[in-house]
Amino acid sequence: MSSGAPSGVATPDRRARGARAPKVWAGRLSAPTSERVEAYTSSFAVDRRLGADDVAGSRAHARMLRSIGVLTAAQHRALDTGLRAIAAELANGTFVVAPGDEDIHTAVERRLFELAGPVAGMLHTGRSRNDQVATDLRLWARRACTDLLIATAGLQESLLTRAAEHRTAPMPGYTHLQRAQMVSLAHHLLAYVEMFARDALRLGAARVACDELPLGSGALAGSTLPLDRERVADELGFARIAANSMDAVADRDFAVDITAACALTMVHCSRLGEELVLWSSAEFGFTSLPDSHATGSSLMPQKKNADVAELARGRSGRVIGDLVALLTTLKGLPLTYNRDLQEDKEPLFDAVDTTAATLRMLTELITVVHFDIDAMRRAASDPALQATDAAEHLVANGVPFREAHGIVGALVARTLATGRTLASLDLAEWQAASPRFGPGVVDLFDPDAALRRRDVPGGPGPRSVSRQITRARALIARTRRAAAGG
Ligand code: ARG
Repeated sequence: MSSGAPSGVATPDRRARGARAPKVWAGRLSAPTSERVEAYTSSFAVDRRLGADDVAGSRAHARMLRSIGVLTAAQHRALDTGLRAIAAELANGTFVVAPGDEDIHTAVERRLFELAGPVAGMLHTGRSRNDQVATDLRLWARRACTDLLIATAGLQESLLTRAAEHRTAPMPGYTHLQRAQMVSLAHHLLAYVEMFARDALRLGAARVACDELPLGSGALAGSTLPLDRERVADELGFARIAANSMDAVADRDFAVDITAACALTMVHCSRLGEELVLWSSAEFGFTSLPDSHATGSSLMPQKKNADVAELARGRSGRVIGDLVALLTTLKGLPLTYNRDLQEDKEPLFDAVDTTAATLRMLTELITVVHFDIDAMRRAASDPALQATDAAEHLVANGVPFREAHGIVGALVARTLATGRTLASLDLAEWQAASPRFGPGVVDLFDPDAALRRRDVPGGPGPRSVSRQITRARALIARTRRAAAGG
């Protein structure tokens, strides 16, 4: 996704580059790290996408070190020039990985030594990789929330557009996947706008959770140097500084918040995907996808499948797994940083990538899908959908609902047994079942009239749907404001 980091990082060429750079801990550990240990512990392949954020964090830290007099103007200039060059290398894919680069943070530091010389050794003053990685990840995650919110607004918009197009198209609503009562296509689609609006609230809250600066917390216990944390927070656009240095380096709740929001968003995408799969079956026949958005079978020549919708459904499983993986990683960790925390990135990145891609793909699918509103109307013309209306007709004439339910239920059973429908009964037959049926009962079975009757607030009736459409516009605007950090 777009919040990802620089795409191209050149492959290491061990022979050409010769010996490894010494480890940052070479003073303490004298033996070179085993190559197998290096391979096992490296996170570069995953955290390389934090490169731009790592450089941004380092530049802000260096500027602050200059402001408190730890760096001279010349030292700061040398560091900043080097860091800017590294940012350019990361962005244009010319950054060369060296063997032994353990993660993006050590890779950037190693490159800074190559470009700026020994002054690079001043950058890590008052900073640990523990507060550095937490800062980088929060910068990345905040942008990821913005991106997810924009993608959510896009899907809401496509649902709203299609709903507005089919404001009064009747369709059967289902419970237990059995035809239940009259709804409209618009009402059905707007239900998803509501679901994604709740997802947007969760993502907005996750964005707020990200908006806190860990830098200045050091390894776990801050620093003896007079670090100006507020200045760094301002520079990086964080709303506040983390209040407790131990919490700051151990906390990954913000990553859980995003992944949890992604998991539930994917559950909603999965349900929408399932509807599209069902609706595109010959049994329903409610939708068809353009050939450009369908897939075929390698064996059965006649097949046209909704694989995109199935994958939206299928990938929800992986994102739920990401959430479980992250929670499980955190649950046994004593304060503060433990290397286990390196495992936070794969699930977070995967959840964000998968959810953003799924939201965007479903946006496209909803935009191009053909709704066969005649097929929906035919299905919605099943008079049984108005059985409840007939019972409520009796209620209006003073019959207790339970009794009315029994009377109409018996009529349904009788008509089914004789191959008839409720709509075929004449007034005398209704009144034979109950004298409380008035002449209006025979007019209950027109689908459009049935829809118009259901105009209770929140119902599928046309006036209610118009109100929902106005509300959906406001919900989408709210999602967009949350994306902008509002
Ligand atoms: N790659 C590590 C991570 O993602 C960086 C932090 C390493 N810190 C340490 N104390 N070993 O968590």
